[in-house]
Amino acid sequence: MRLLDSKLYKADLEKAVKKADLEKLDGKSIFITGGLGLICSAVIDVLLTYGNVKKIYVGARDETQFFERFGEIDKLSFVKYDALEKLQIDFIPDYIIHGAGLASPELYTSMPVETILSNLNGIHFLLEFAKKNNIKKILYISSSEVYGNKETIESFVEGKYGIINIDNIRSSYSIAKRASEMLCKSYSQEYGVNTTIVRPGHIFGPSARKTDKRISSDFAFKAAKGIKLEMKSSGLQKRSYCYSIDCSIQILYALINGVNGDVYNIGHDKITTVREMAEIYAKAGGVKISSVSPTESELNDFNPMNNSSLDNTKIKKLGYSDTFTVEEGLTHTVKIIKEINCF
Ligand SMILES: NC(=O)c1ccc[n+]([C@@H]2O[C@H](COP(=O)([O-])OP(=O)(O)OC[C@H]3O[C@@H](n4cnc5c(N)ncnc54)[C@H](O)[C@@H]3O)[C@@H](O)[C@H]2O)c1
Repeated sequence: MRLLDSKLYKADLEKAVKKADLEKLDGKSIFITGGLGLICSAVIDVLLTYGNVKKIYVGARDETQFFERFGEIDKLSFVKYDALEKLQIDFIPDYIIHGAGLASPELYTSMPVETILSNLNGIHFLLEFAKKNNIKKILYISSSEVYGNKETIESFVEGKYGIINIDNIRSSYSIAKRASEMLCKSYSQEYGVNTTIVRPGHIFGPSARKTDKRISSDFAFKAAKGIKLEMKSSGLQKRSYCYSIDCSIQILYALINGVNGDVYNIGHDKITTVREMAEIYAKAGGVKISSVSPTESELNDFNPMNNSSLDNTKIKKLGYSDTFTVEEGLTHTVKIIKEINCF
């Protein structure tokens, strides 16, 4: 069963889309890279539910996976896309969203070169294309990890930063995100390319692939399968957990309403700890939580930020408001995974 066949997922998409104002996208075409990933495949689901866009070009490496995920849908076209290679496309979309890239901590440390280049080269080729073809807007999906570490408890506001350890190979991710953001701003200022950047916090949802090892995906599949959840830290880290559908609406608001060259945090009104996230999943799946010591390599992959909570005031000024509570999002994620029997 495909994700889009899930009754609960469809109901959630319809609820969010009904509340959102996406009219500026009517009749427009969009090229979305990373279109099979957790975030961008949910953006595509939202756009399909909205229904009024003309065409969605889905940039991804694997055509078989594309058909498994979406099937045959008139408005969708598969576009063979690898962010590490020179861009070769034969259409000119109105909008571009760059969401392709290595996005899991174990990959930042095992494939730091591809982590850097899928972001930096990927966005560079797209920015060049946007410059030559006068694209309406190109949106880059950055990350809350650009903020780095800080000791204080308040949430991160756009423009105020902590420290990133540039001697740690795991920082390949956060440094690539910072450099790619700066490239967007530079194309905007020097060549007038219309760009906007978003910085998601911790996004979860049933659009994750079952091979996704990030804790908020891994725990969702385990809870749905009835497997106990193993906590490998105190779980006190503060996160801006956000359901993929709410995240998608924020991305689309930034795309159509965001200021040229500007950056927007993507999160939720409520800040959630890792333990709270696990407890909600455990309840939804009827499973227990246990404490386990991490291996050395797991420790190296850990997000060094104890507090990566985000202030979401700026995106809300573009008209956005959350549709789902974090608890609803997490609970629905487990229910939907069970419903489509995808584990
Ligand atoms: N999920 C989150 O919590 C989160 C938080 C902050 C930022 N982000 C960013 O959002 C974007 C999307 O992340 P996601 O969570 O959907 O991750 P994901 O891993 O689910 O999706 C990323 C997609 O990019 C593809 N990809 C990787 N390298 C590629 C390449 N060289 N060429 C083409 N495709 C490639 C992957 O196959 C995958 O389909 C990433 O840039 C990520 O860094 C995600």
